[in-house]
Amino acid sequence: MSETAHIKLGEQEIDLPVFTGSEGEQSIDINKLRDLTGYVTLDSGFKNTGATKSSITFLDGELGILRYRGYPIEQLAEKSNFMEVTYLLLYGELPTNEQYIEFTDRITRHTLVHEDIKQFFDGFPSNAHPMGQLCSLMCTLSSFYPDALNPHMSANEVDMTITRILAKMPTLVSWIHKKSVGHPIMYPQNKFDYVTNFLYMVFGMRTEEYMPDPVVVDALDKLLILHADHEQNCSTSTVRMVGSSQANAYASVAAGVAALWGPLHGGANQQVIEMLEVIKRDGGNVAKYVEKAKDKNDNFRLMGFGHRVYKNFDPRAKIIKEACDNVLNKLGIHDPVLDIAKQLEEVALRDNYFVERKLYPNVDFYSGIIYRAIGFPTEMFTVLFALGRLPGWLSQWKEMRESGEPIGRPRQIYTGPTQRDYVNIAIR
Ligand code: MLT
Repeated sequence: MSETAHIKLGEQEIDLPVFTGSEGEQSIDINKLRDLTGYVTLDSGFKNTGATKSSITFLDGELGILRYRGYPIEQLAEKSNFMEVTYLLLYGELPTNEQYIEFTDRITRHTLVHEDIKQFFDGFPSNAHPMGQLCSLMCTLSSFYPDALNPHMSANEVDMTITRILAKMPTLVSWIHKKSVGHPIMYPQNKFDYVTNFLYMVFGMRTEEYMPDPVVVDALDKLLILHADHEQNCSTSTVRMVGSSQANAYASVAAGVAALWGPLHGGANQQVIEMLEVIKRDGGNVAKYVEKAKDKNDNFRLMGFGHRVYKNFDPRAKIIKEACDNVLNKLGIHDPVLDIAKQLEEVALRDNYFVERKLYPNVDFYSGIIYRAIGFPTEMFTVLFALGRLPGWLSQWKEMRESGEPIGRPRQIYTGPTQRDYVNIAIR
């Protein structure tokens, strides 16, 4: 007999089914709770609520485990590449050589963006935040592919839509960077792989030959893998929620970009570097800022520490920290901001104030230092997070469609005024 949860509400007693996942995670299925009892659950921020069943990403916050389709993130970061991981997230299995070639060729052939989109793009001021431009351009893309608006697309049409979004986002991101530095855009080159092509479009110049350093290609590829998915985080949940209304993939991804923009989510990597810069400008006095962070009356907060689900360490931060050292050493870069970051990390891992509050470096803490070493302006960091998270958003959107999930429509507990009659107060 399957396990149940026995609930006693006043005189009423009910049993609700318990659902156990493949990794032993347990949940109380409350689908019938309101019908049976009139009660709903209340869980601000959904900290205790499973929104869906998913077979894409598993993480264990207590043990610091992160796996994509069962493969540990450490192995994928070391042995795979971003395109292979993208295939894995989308289709559930690592590709054969033939599948990998077909998949990467398909994406390569769709990296061009319709020239008419430039009319929209040119309207942005050069200092417009990259995430606002990306959100807008992603939705604008849907205007050029009306077939994608059909909620009943075939599997092949879904694949083509996903291909177009994966292929065109790097091109759009490179355009956004070029605008911010006042340089002409570069066009994708079919001879390059995904990450090399992206770096070529971002840092290449029409006036000279450019090939990115293989160390940089490898580091960025690793960073994109580490950001590729993270189960039901804020932006991915947003993509699923928007997609559940049968909104198209472009609109769902644009919503994910909007959610990721927030400083409590993807915007944190930009906040980390800005925080480290403040400490550097103030003489690099780490101890002073550690005390400020502890002082309840001081509004200074340490960004890049702690995490909603990881209770001991963020497995991605460990990998990124190693990559950070590797990139800076190989590129011969000494970045005082990295020295400050390492001092802060040492304090956070030793000082009881941080240890008791589980404030250890998370994925955002070191990623900005690598992006900066590669040459990206700080305002581009969150867009780079979006580029990495794109396969996760699309995989979860695809899974939500294929599982026929209902439109997301949470309930609430009303706390406003009870019924009252209208009385004309304004003198009109
Ligand atoms: C992420 O990777 O999306 C962030 O760590 C936030 C999260 O998972 O809640």
